[in-house]
Amino acid sequence: MHARKINDRVSWMGAIHWNRRLFDSLIPLPDGTSYNAYLVRGSEKTALLDTADPAMQHLLDAQLDGVGQIDYLVAHHAEQDHAGAIPAVLKRYPEAVVITSPKAKGMLVDLLCLPEDRIRTLEDGETLSLGDATLECIHTPWVHWPETLCTYLREDRILFSCDFFGSHLATTDLYVRDEARVYEAAKRYYAEIMMPFRPTIRRNLAKVEAHDVALIAPSHGPVYDRPAFILDAYRDWVSETVKNEVVLPYVSMHGSTRKMVEVLVGALAARDVTVHVFDLAVTDIGKLAIALVDAATLIVGTPTVHVGPHPAVFYAAHLANALRPKLRFAGVIGSYGWSSKAVERLAALIPNLKVDILDPVLARGYPRPADIKALEALAETVAAKHRSL
Ligand code: FEO
Repeated sequence: MHARKINDRVSWMGAIHWNRRLFDSLIPLPDGTSYNAYLVRGSEKTALLDTADPAMQHLLDAQLDGVGQIDYLVAHHAEQDHAGAIPAVLKRYPEAVVITSPKAKGMLVDLLCLPEDRIRTLEDGETLSLGDATLECIHTPWVHWPETLCTYLREDRILFSCDFFGSHLATTDLYVRDEARVYEAAKRYYAEIMMPFRPTIRRNLAKVEAHDVALIAPSHGPVYDRPAFILDAYRDWVSETVKNEVVLPYVSMHGSTRKMVEVLVGALAARDVTVHVFDLAVTDIGKLAIALVDAATLIVGTPTVHVGPHPAVFYAAHLANALRPKLRFAGVIGSYGWSSKAVERLAALIPNLKVDILDPVLARGYPRPADIKALEALAETVAAKHRSL
């Protein structure tokens, strides 16, 4: 992939990683990803903004052939998918200086062993002049590490946002062309990466929105030439508004819990509650994370295994707790053979969730008419609580 021109002074560089399927050995990447770097040529100085994952460094190396001197290497984030190739770029350009936030400086030294004397820091609001182009530093901590920053190219009104507003999406579209596809990928990205820091994201969103932005150029996925598309989406996701939706992850070993899930889904749907159902034996945890962005209620379906919840449910509950979605209610349904502490153990797994716990529905063995009735009552309770929001 060659560098691609955005305007007379800014070009996209970096790599599209079509076949990457896992990030951090944790996050599914069904659509691959990209590592976007940007070259900004001022009348006096040239800056490279971020680099690429070391696995794809050879592509960036080839794009830099013929570029000439790089004076500044702006590091918006110390994570290796953007900063990992900085040591190689510094070696190639012995005069180049890394520009970053004071917090990121320490992290770049710790994680990448960068020499401190090659790093210059910018305070929030401070600018870097490239001659006829000015990069303004905007500190945006916790999107999604403590050191993260954005830069704003004043003359062209371009916000370089790194992970903020990003999407794990491999595409040859330089700009967003398929909004529905990018919306899904950006929401997945927000859910998995940004949602745990929602109040901070909201503050940083207001901070970047104070700038007049014509283009948002993130470090994953396509560039937003209609910034309102992603800004509106983020405003919705970070808001306090929850939707009339239930997320229902479950596991069933012999069909009893599945039967209860089927009954509850039907009862909720009959009351116009949208339900997102995930069989944890086969689910993509990214889709589960997306569903958690908006939902008012989480109900977990689990059989009892060794007195507690099924291990797959432990994992899902731990994940939901870590992602800190804006849920209001949580509940448990499921089947057990002889005794169960599934409810107590699940409740202990979700201290971060500020939820009211609904009365559980546990069936001894296969659900009987009384259990079905309890599930109908649970659906009615959920629908009434959602109506009251
Ligand atoms: Fe894309 Fe947090 O790195």
